[in-house]
Amino acid sequence: MGLFITFEGTDGSGKTTQIQQLTAHLETEGRIVCTTREPGGTKIGNQIRHVLHDVNNIEMTAEAEILLYSASRAQLVRELVLPRLAQGEVVLCDRYVESTYAYQGYGRELNFDMLRRLGEFATQGVRPDLIIYLDLDIQAGLARKATLAATGQEVLNRMDKLEQDFYQRVRDGYHELARQDSEPTRWLILDASAPIETISQQVWARVSALLESVIST
Ligand code: TMP
Repeated sequence: MGLFITFEGTDGSGKTTQIQQLTAHLETEGRIVCTTREPGGTKIGNQIRHVLHDVNNIEMTAEAEILLYSASRAQLVRELVLPRLAQGEVVLCDRYVESTYAYQGYGRELNFDMLRRLGEFATQGVRPDLIIYLDLDIQAGLARKATLAATGQEVLNRMDKLEQDFYQRVRDGYHELARQDSEPTRWLILDASAPIETISQQVWARVSALLESVIST
C-alpha cells in the first residue's frame, strides 16, 4: 500500500510550491509519485473544476457548490487515488475533504452532519496518512494571491471573490478540524510565512519519518 498525503491551507499559502518540492525530493529517493489536485485531477473532475471556478457562475447555490466539489472528489478517489495507492505510489493531493469541511462547513456555515456524511460517501472513507496544513495570515495570503494574479502566474477564481471574514472563518476552521480529528497526529501544521526552504525541510523531516515507519511495519 502506498502513502496518501494531502496539502491544505487558505488561498495563497504556498501549497503548490511545497508540493513541487516534495515531489522532487521523493523522486530523488526513487519513489513513484502521483500529484493531483481538487477540484480536478481527472477528466470529469477538470470539467467540474471549470464550472466551480467560473467567475460568471455567481448564481451558484451553496448546495450545488458542495455537491460539485463532492462529485469531483468521488471521481478522483475511485479513478486515481485508490488505484495508485494500491500500486504502492505516494499520492500527493492539493486539497481534499478537509477543504470542504473548512470552506463549506466553517466558511459557508453549512450543516456539518450533512457534510460529514457526504464526505464519507465521496471518499469511501479513504483518509490521508498525513495532512500538511500551511497556516497563513489571511491578509498575507490574499496579497500573495493578488501578486500571482497580477503577474499572470495564477487566474483568480469564483472562490477568490469572497469577503475577508469568510477566509478568517476558514482559517479558524482548519485549526478546529485538526483539534477534533480522531487522529490529530496525522496533521502537520506549519507556519507558511517561513522561508520556502525552511518549510520544505519541515515537510521532508515528517514525510521521510513516515516512509520509514511504513517500510518497517
Ligand atoms: P485552488 O485550486 O487555487 O486551491 O482553488 C480551489 C478553491 O476552491 C479554493 O478557494 C478552495 C475552494 N474549495 C472549496 O471551497 N471546497 C473544496 O472542497 C475544495 C476542494 C476547494
